[in-house]
Amino acid sequence: QDIPVICIDGPTASGKGTLASRVAQTLGYHYLDSGALYRVTAYAALKAGLSLEANDEARISDLARTLPVRFEGDTVWLGNEDVSDAIRTEQAGMNASKVSVLPAVRTALVALQHSFQRLPGLLADGRDMGTVIFPDAPLKVFLTASAAQRAERRHKQLISKGISTTLDSLRADLEARDARDSSRSVAPLKAAQDAFQLDNSSLSIEASVDQVLTWWQAKQ
Ligand code: C5P
Repeated sequence: QDIPVICIDGPTASGKGTLASRVAQTLGYHYLDSGALYRVTAYAALKAGLSLEANDEARISDLARTLPVRFEGDTVWLGNEDVSDAIRTEQAGMNASKVSVLPAVRTALVALQHSFQRLPGLLADGRDMGTVIFPDAPLKVFLTASAAQRAERRHKQLISKGISTTLDSLRADLEARDARDSSRSVAPLKAAQDAFQLDNSSLSIEASVDQVLTWWQAKQ
């Protein structure tokens, strides 16, 4: 099992997705957006008429274990339904955070996440990539940015998509989501002991990519 994995974990809207996909592109590696799996799971659960609570844990995890999800560029498919936009809303993020608290759901998604580890290598982004899913990964990065900075970036992103929100409500939402993600008992959001910390509050995306590539080269 010599397929390299680079893990990028961190809080909501810290820029993990952009950073991980850029590094993956540069290295020609595969990319796992693990948050999308929780988002799709929550979407599928609601569609099946389930609640996102513990009383439906077994049924949600059954769905997760056989989730017919497919990534095609920026398009995310659930069976033959294009769910790309539906899973990207703030509400979908909050729903993902709810199902991700359920231990059986997390377990149900492990094999699917491992299946992304293919040659020549993988960039994995999420909350527990370095701590739980790929604990032996040779490079782990814990990416942070101030809450103000994260809310501002998310605000710009949504405005550019024509979705109107306020900075204050976005910041409150992402802080609520981080609090839930950090305080859950299974696989909470936290840096792996051997993770490099990267605060990108005042770094350009290029500078962040360069930092990760520099750490990666140092491992070779
Ligand atoms: O990263 P993203 O915002 O898409 O993740 C949505 C939610 O899915 C997170 O708030 C978190 O609750 C959950 N998640 C998780 N473990 C991961 C990735 C995401 O619990 N590895």
